[in-house]
Amino acid sequence: QVASLKGTKQGRLRLGVVSTAKYFVPRVLGHFCQQYPGIDIALQVTNHATLIQRMQDNQDDLYILSQPPEDLALSSQPFLDNPLVVVSRQDHPLAGEKNIPIKSLAGEPFIMREQGSGTRQSVQKLFERYKVGVKVRLELGSNEAIKQAIAGGLGLSVLSQHTLIAEQLMGELTILDVQHFPIHLRWYVTHLEGKQLSIIAETFLKFLLENSNHVPLLGTLALQNGTLLGNHHG
Ligand code: PGA
Repeated sequence: QVASLKGTKQGRLRLGVVSTAKYFVPRVLGHFCQQYPGIDIALQVTNHATLIQRMQDNQDDLYILSQPPEDLALSSQPFLDNPLVVVSRQDHPLAGEKNIPIKSLAGEPFIMREQGSGTRQSVQKLFERYKVGVKVRLELGSNEAIKQAIAGGLGLSVLSQHTLIAEQLMGELTILDVQHFPIHLRWYVTHLEGKQLSIIAETFLKFLLENSNHVPLLGTLALQNGTLLGNHHG
């Protein structure tokens, strides 16, 4: 059945993904479309809260997010780690320090994602748990804008490591080695439990589960090369 899909236009795959997943999903889709060139894709990129609304309205075939809500009847499978890390400018006084106590973040100017962001939820939960009061200087609805704001010296933030590309980490930004980080999230691929998936959606689901382990975590590669978190960011 799946083989017969190849090369024949069968319709459309509707995907809804959270903002941090847009850094790898298009590449996976690229490989998928090479194998199934006839399939059209509609990809919606939103934050967590908007994605939940789309689920409730049954607007897409499949969803990718980190924290599937427990009060909806969903079928969810984890497929990839999504570590959240503390990001600062390279010249931040804490850059290069090891095992920084989480309390050191108290009082640091902090850049926070908007209300409704799943990243924000996870960060707030961790800070509440360890009673860390950060000064939120800026709220931004975009991971890209947050990276620019960090580079501009406006403060620290916590981002999915997948939002960081090696070039940025070699240049303006760095990951701080803070206790209790990274926050270990995983991405799930999810659909409404009662939903009858199209053959295309089934095929993509299987493809994603089989191929996502090849997704590189670019920040980690840079870390392993010793170009980060050392005292030698040139
Ligand atoms: P978001 O993504 O911060 O863009 O809402 C959260 C998630 O990882 O599910």
